[in-house]
Amino acid sequence: MTGKTSQVNRRRALRMLGLGAAAATTAAGGAGLVAAQSGAQGAAAKPLSGKVAIVTGARANMGRAFSEALAKMGADIVVHYHRADTRSQAEETANLVRAAGQRAVLVQGDLGDVAVVREMYGAAERAFGGVDIVVNNAGAIIKKPLADFTDAEFDQLDRVNNRGLFYSLREAARHVRPGGRIINNGTSLLAGAAPGYAIYAGTKAPVEEYTRMLAKELGDKRITVNAIAPGPVNTPFFHSQENERSTAYAAGLSTEGRLGEVEDIVPLVEFLASPDSQWTNGQTLWVNGGYLVR
Ligand SMILES: NC(=O)c1ccc[n+]([C@@H]2O[C@H](COP(=O)([O-])OP(=O)(O)OC[C@H]3O[C@@H](n4cnc5c(N)ncnc54)[C@H](OP(=O)(O)O)[C@@H]3O)[C@@H](O)[C@H]2O)c1
Repeated sequence: MTGKTSQVNRRRALRMLGLGAAAATTAAGGAGLVAAQSGAQGAAAKPLSGKVAIVTGARANMGRAFSEALAKMGADIVVHYHRADTRSQAEETANLVRAAGQRAVLVQGDLGDVAVVREMYGAAERAFGGVDIVVNNAGAIIKKPLADFTDAEFDQLDRVNNRGLFYSLREAARHVRPGGRIINNGTSLLAGAAPGYAIYAGTKAPVEEYTRMLAKELGDKRITVNAIAPGPVNTPFFHSQENERSTAYAAGLSTEGRLGEVEDIVPLVEFLASPDSQWTNGQTLWVNGGYLVR
């Protein structure tokens, strides 16, 4: 039996005994484990105790839910939000993190500005001593025919969906600690084609490519990089572009005849952030109730 196989078997056995990931890691005898344990007294059952996560676009909706879920798993959170006038919403997200017993700091700004992205990672370092998990969740959407797109509209989408993602991944590649997790929010549209979504899906397409390649580059540090690809989710982001008819059509493409809810997406992020997902790497995971499959 190889060392890795015996570790996996030990972890499985401990899970069957009802012991959490922290106990499993300790049993595996790694040197870093003691450090992970010492900072989190009484929190051994939480799989992300001692970890720090950055969540972008976290003022509400999926970003807020991911922040709260990771906090419940034991992580401290850097809550990023975009527009200054949405600060009170970001504060609400931070309060949910604190209610889960974890620390939160807020960072505001446009991720198309490299200084903002650097500040986000700097805040993680200053407030919490580093970063282990990054959820690149921010994104922008406009649905209209490609022929009608203005340069400014193209830039608005490209700025966050592509450029901002690149800036964040570059910082993540430099700063995420060994064993860390990078999770990128894409779209199920990458598995299909829909009129009006060429530029949204086109500027989101790099999510999949950056994910695949970066996973290979960071693998030696046991950092995993994965993308989630939700189908239509019942948030204002989706509804801002759709009408009753197109919403019913999109809902009808799922096997349950409904839109996704934020709560349908959260468990996948919880899994990808957890120690249990170590063997899932470089993947785009479609989470859409069968809406589009690939
Ligand atoms: N809802 C869906 O149907 C659906 C489906 C598949 C994938 N997704 C993806 O899921 C993610 C979250 O979507 P959501 O539905 O939860 O909506 P959301 O809350 O509106 O999330 C988008 C976030 O990105 C932020 N953002 C936009 N431009 C930015 C920029 N230049 N710099 C920094 N942040 C910026 C927004 O902030 P402001 O509002 O302040 O601009 C917002 O907080 C997005 O990446 C989206 O593409 C959504």
